Amino acid sequence: MSDKQPNSNVSVILQNSRLEKIQSLVLEELEAKRDISRDQPFSWSLKHVISCSQICKLLAAARGLDSEIAGIAGAIHDLAIIRTGRFEKHGPVGAPMVAEFLQNYNIEFGNECGNISQEQIDKIVQATQNHTYKTEFTENEFDELIKDADSLDRFLHGKETYDFYYTRSEKALTDIGLRIKDII
Ligand SMILES: [Fe+2]
Repeated sequence: MSDKQPNSNVSVILQNSRLEKIQSLVLEELEAKRDISRDQPFSWSLKHVISCSQICKLLAAARGLDSEIAGIAGAIHDLAIIRTGRFEKHGPVGAPMVAEFLQNYNIEFGNECGNISQEQIDKIVQATQNHTYKTEFTENEFDELIKDADSLDRFLHGKETYDFYYTRSEKALTDIGLRIKDII
């Protein structure tokens, strides 16, 4: 018998209570707006909130950025689509919504789950604002992370992938040690 049995005494829990709370709050908002007309299916938003958030965490770890803050941005960057159902200009439309959402989160849940600093809020709001512009490549690592993770999530869900989404998906996969051909 192998002596490499899993160690059943090991239990590791990631410290991401802020992220978990925010994911839940975003999903509650989505559920409350289940019946509005949408440019994209409700089911896509439901999947994308969580899977984009998880990809953001992984990619942030690979790039040496803050994993939990990236995960929060991944969960919340499409807040305008969740609330209005409209895709057009959802980054700029969503940025002030995200700022308000995170400030309200701090007031209601900051003590229980951990506050998000103003600097972190600013980062998430800016990434939300800019993630729509995926053909633009900037020096801002956090903005680029959200664009890349957003693109990779679309690709992994089998959504239509334009050149610039493909380029970003390829880069994100490379940074986590994979290649497109590993997964298609
Ligand atoms: Fe997105």
